[in-house]
Amino acid sequence: MNRTAHRGRIAHLLCDPGSTGQAKALAHFEDGCLLVEAGKVVACDHWDKLNPDPGQWQFIEHGTALILPGFVDTHIHFAQTDIIASFGQHLLEWLNDYAFPVEQKIGRDRQYANETAQFFVDELLRNGTTSALVFGTVHKHSIEALFRAALAKNMRLVGGKVLMDRGAPDDLCETVAQGRTDTLKLIHDWQNKGRLGYAITPRFAPTSTWAQLTDAGDMLRQHPDVLMHTHLSENEKEIELVGELFPDCADYLDVYEKAGLLNDRAVFAHCVHLSASEQSRIAAAGASIAFCPTSNLFLGSGLFDLRSARNAKINVGLGTDVGAGSSFSMLSTQAEAYKVGQLQDQALHPVEALYLATLGGAKALHIEAQVGNFETGKEADFVVLDPSASPLLARRAAQSPDINDLLFALGMLGGQAAVKETWLAGHRSYVA
Ligand code: GUN
Ligand code: ZN
Repeated sequence: MNRTAHRGRIAHLLCDPGSTGQAKALAHFEDGCLLVEAGKVVACDHWDKLNPDPGQWQFIEHGTALILPGFVDTHIHFAQTDIIASFGQHLLEWLNDYAFPVEQKIGRDRQYANETAQFFVDELLRNGTTSALVFGTVHKHSIEALFRAALAKNMRLVGGKVLMDRGAPDDLCETVAQGRTDTLKLIHDWQNKGRLGYAITPRFAPTSTWAQLTDAGDMLRQHPDVLMHTHLSENEKEIELVGELFPDCADYLDVYEKAGLLNDRAVFAHCVHLSASEQSRIAAAGASIAFCPTSNLFLGSGLFDLRSARNAKINVGLGTDVGAGSSFSMLSTQAEAYKVGQLQDQALHPVEALYLATLGGAKALHIEAQVGNFETGKEADFVVLDPSASPLLARRAAQSPDINDLLFALGMLGGQAAVKETWLAGHRSYVA
């Protein structure tokens, strides 16, 4: 039967809690029903209210588990999977010592690239992540490997090959013309294939010449349906370097702005050290920020000021930024986001955290018409979390007075182990 009625505790965001307040934004059904037909949501409500007919619907009982929309990871590098948790450096040294070597290996060894892409997609699903915005390497075959792996799972994923023409080892640099040819061919071959999307992906200002950045801006103008994905203002030495490399630009964002890379389809990872002016220009453009707390802590980059970004009305999503990020888990990433908030006297409410990890991320990726919550007609991408995944979590969850507290405890204590099942377009794609 192509029609399934999922019964369990269900929560999802109807809208941005920043505009309406947390209570209005969260829909929660203690005994909930998610009706799915042909991979799409038909309805989501109290079980008794929908009262599905067992002759019409196949019942799937999730017991005390919590069903949430699948997580959307707004910034991650698939090629860096194997260097996750590498000791002791800040950004620029870390790139040279760990990131570039593993990206060179992806370039040399296509079998390694394919196997890493396969593992990566499986690892996303193991963590309840159903969509992601992904960096490849400079090599065209890297992102082809990823797209093939995601297409095989019918995953809604956006990615791009990296553009780099300086500031890295020779075998990670291309010419502007080669970067353009490869990018245009990839857009042609993969944009809107299955549930895939393309992102034009200049790594960051220090690894592209002005010629390459403006060429990326030109491609973006020619393809208004693709995203733009890069890094911005992550680390103080990086910002200094950008100032030296682009003396005619007023600040870091101005480099991207002048190159034609700032628009509402741009996603900027990190943004830890933005000025008020940069913040207001990002807001005015309707661009999004990928907040990557585990990475920012791991590399010692600094504390992202979420409150001020949200007050400026910037759309923000959460990113793991593996391999500088130290976890694939968007639950653990929510937990670290909370701690980053605590260090700045801005406790991140669990409903807000869930928004960042689902609907906010979907908005950043411009896929909110398809995923991000359980509105009728959206694709049924969801995660089933087990509140008794560990003895400690079970004890803690048993004391939970309400859904806000349960969401918070799952974020703090759950991690990958709490993910029981992950469903893509109504199909069970991972079982613990
Ligand atoms: N800035 C430029 N490249 C990278 C990268 O691979 N990871 C992180 N965290 N920051 C970057
Ligand atoms: Zn990154």
